[in-house]
Amino acid sequence: MFKIIIKDNYDEVSFEAFKVMQETLTSKTNPVLGLATGSTPVGLYKNMIQDHKAQGTSYKNVLTWNLDEYIGIPRSHEQSYYTFMHENLFDHIDIPEENVHVPLGETDDVAKSCVDYEKSMEGHTVDLQVLGIGSDGHIAFNEPGTPFDSLTHVMDLTEQTRQDNARFFDGDIDQVPTCAITMGLGTIMRSKKIVVIATGANKADAVHGMLKGELTTDCPASILQKHDDVVVILDKEAASKL
Ligand code: PGA
Repeated sequence: MFKIIIKDNYDEVSFEAFKVMQETLTSKTNPVLGLATGSTPVGLYKNMIQDHKAQGTSYKNVLTWNLDEYIGIPRSHEQSYYTFMHENLFDHIDIPEENVHVPLGETDDVAKSCVDYEKSMEGHTVDLQVLGIGSDGHIAFNEPGTPFDSLTHVMDLTEQTRQDNARFFDGDIDQVPTCAITMGLGTIMRSKKIVVIATGANKADAVHGMLKGELTTDCPASILQKHDDVVVILDKEAASKL
């Protein structure tokens, strides 16, 4: 079931997402968060950092699992999602390093890395999963065609996704890794609550597919139609095809 909120601009969208986050942080003693990377959640993370500094909201009892990580670049690479999360959130709040989990893409045994990541989540349920959406309808790095019941797996990135992400790699698609390790759609669907954030006209088709399109692996985000607690926060451009 979707609750759709449409705001005027990115800052308002980010603040609205922060309100959903705050509700989870204040209502649970040991909140478990599913976190995302990309441009979209940066504003949400800025709100979390500001609130931590101003209000003292603590993350000492928070556990986090990130959605995905590139394969083919080390964790120390400036564009790894491990680095992204530390620079944009973890280094600015009081979360203990042992509480954060980012899939390990820097490994000789990526199959084991996938199994280990699922195992690390055993006994925990994500209270709030933060999601962006790709212009091709992906969530995490689950590209079109990914089975709805998939668990953490390796994914070849589509040309579209690599093109979209080239802006982080000096605009050079050849520098963008060709595959990634990602939570599966089945993994994501286990979350108790999900907040999807999308802004900009280039997300309008994917947003339409997620909310109003048919349930099809051609639009991986359409699986969210089967979840019973999804808040979707959009700006006017992302909502323009609804
Ligand atoms: P973006 O990516 O936030 O950088 O647009 C979204 C996604 O690919 O999930």
